Amino acid sequence: MRRQIAAANWKMNCTLEQAETLLEDLLQLEHDLSRSRLVILAVPFPYLMLAKDILHGKKGYHIAAQNIHTKSHGAHTGEVSAEMLRSIGIDYAVIGHSERREEFGETHAQLAEKVNIALEYNIKPIFCCGEPFEIREAGKEKEYVAKQIEDSLFQLDDLQMQHFIIAYEPVWAIGTGKTASPEQAQEMHAFIRKIIADRYNAEVASLVSILYGGSVKQSNAASIFHQPDVDGGLVGGASLIAADFSTIIDALKEGLQVT
Ligand code: PGA
Repeated sequence: MRRQIAAANWKMNCTLEQAETLLEDLLQLEHDLSRSRLVILAVPFPYLMLAKDILHGKKGYHIAAQNIHTKSHGAHTGEVSAEMLRSIGIDYAVIGHSERREEFGETHAQLAEKVNIALEYNIKPIFCCGEPFEIREAGKEKEYVAKQIEDSLFQLDDLQMQHFIIAYEPVWAIGTGKTASPEQAQEMHAFIRKIIADRYNAEVASLVSILYGGSVKQSNAASIFHQPDVDGGLVGGASLIAADFSTIIDALKEGLQVT
């Protein structure tokens, strides 16, 4: 079963009070979540425990951190490790978001280390990739994304790659209101699945959830999510409004039977 996922990326937004209200408002809205359709909320570090408490026992809801360090502990002031997240029961972490690649210079090699340590502590990465505008203009987007995936993920074994979550987020679509068309998203997602099938095998590739991110909103979620190789989305701005994110959750397909 390939899971369909609506993931919220709150980024550096919300006060404690706003975070509480947003989580509670979201829970007021009913969703049909099952083993194959899930919601993951990537909230800022200070609200991880709050989110965990509010979502406790709510089926289908999971919490993610927005980053982790490459090491499990030590003299790394201001950082948060996979070991810490495991100790508070967090199961997911966003790794390699383009804002972190740009603002903090995260390299492919560092991201490979982050992916490895996350898995070591049984934290599932949501690995982000995607090309900047100049690269798409030059027609080199597939090459660019392939390199991001090869360099940071292809050290994984078959078992680790199975059920992995990748978010394709073209940088030119993030926070800009410019969304990739459903066809552009499908083309890249099919390509990502193909390179995974070539490196591993078709069965492993068919189980990877590939999310689309970049200005997903109420009005475009369904047309993008209904593409055959799109398994939901990683949503920034629209995830900060409960009603909007709720409609986006409802746009998920049913989990795909792939075996
Ligand atoms: P956006 O952000 O939905 O606001 O474009 C998506 C993301 O950066 O994950």
